[in-house]
Amino acid sequence: MVGEPMNICVLGGTGFVGTALVNRLARDGHWVVVPTRNPEHGQHLRVLPTVELATANVHDPSALDRLVTGMDAVINLVGILNEHGRCTFQLVHAALAQKLVAALKAARVRRLLQMSALGADTGAPSRYLRSKGEAEAHIRAAAAHLDFTILRPSVIFGPGDSLTNRFANLLRLSGGFLPLARPQARFSPVYVHDVTEAFARALSDRKTHGQSYELCGPQVMTLEQLVRTTAQAAGLRCLLLGLPDPIGRLQAALLGALPGKPLTLDNFRSLTLDSVCADSGCERLGIAPRTMAQILPGYLPSPATPGNSRAMA
Ligand SMILES: NC(=O)c1ccc[n+]([C@@H]2O[C@H](COP(=O)([O-])OP(=O)(O)OC[C@H]3O[C@@H](n4cnc5c(N)ncnc54)[C@H](OP(=O)(O)O)[C@@H]3O)[C@@H](O)[C@H]2O)c1
Repeated sequence: MVGEPMNICVLGGTGFVGTALVNRLARDGHWVVVPTRNPEHGQHLRVLPTVELATANVHDPSALDRLVTGMDAVINLVGILNEHGRCTFQLVHAALAQKLVAALKAARVRRLLQMSALGADTGAPSRYLRSKGEAEAHIRAAAAHLDFTILRPSVIFGPGDSLTNRFANLLRLSGGFLPLARPQARFSPVYVHDVTEAFARALSDRKTHGQSYELCGPQVMTLEQLVRTTAQAAGLRCLLLGLPDPIGRLQAALLGALPGKPLTLDNFRSLTLDSVCADSGCERLGIAPRTMAQILPGYLPSPATPGNSRAMA
């Protein structure tokens, strides 16, 4: 599945998914440029000999032009779950996709892999999902000059995620007690290396041009089951209190005002939509996705692991 070595620019390549993907692309022999707002965010990629970190503002059209010129393919992973100051969903998802499409056209680069999200739609209930839907629309509208592939995962788990690690930390801090908004919201968590496999396969497969792929794990589970599975793998106590929607909404409003915004009203609105696949993109790409139970014990520290606060207490 490796194909010819390519020059690839990975926007958002320093993050959780980006780190796994850039490592994978480097291992496959590709030359990779990773723009970042802050080179500290990409320090861990410096050890990869075919990877170059570039400090750049990807929202500046001329910087974007320079980054994509001469590339064989561009992958856009840039995304935020919460808005901060001027970094709105509109700017980071929709406007960036529009600028990227223009830059690719000017540089005559045809291949684009776009990271979207399951449920992305211009009519979705949250601003996050609507802006991801707008980004997709900008890309689809450029089909005449773009060979695009859109990847739409459910929630992604793996080492360094902000899903299972966050719940494990919360359970550790709270002694296992967690009031949970939208406990019956359904997900199909997908392993980060199954997601990067999907990108790697799509990259050099012409059949994926103009297509989108929903990426799900093999199981559908509620948020409550997801947290219990995390707790079990980490050997943590787990006492969950499912909140009715009016209280869950209030919890989101309060937590959204805290530093770090553990949950926001916009997150809550995303949770009103099940994040499960209607068609199996993994299967279409020949990938057999792995379960949380298979993977979690490999990276979540259990109470017996040195460095865990309970083990040290
Ligand atoms: N994680 C999931 O469960 C999940 C599920 C579905 C879809 N997705 C999508 O997958 C993509 C990657 O997610 P992730 O979990 O890897 O996110 P992440 O760890 O937070 O990484 C985000 C990346 O985007 C860049 N970025 C963030 N804000 C930016 C801004 N204002 N301007 C320019 N660059 C910015 C960061 O680059 P620098 O900080 O280096 O500049 C970083 O490389 C996102 O598009 C996300 O919406 C994720």
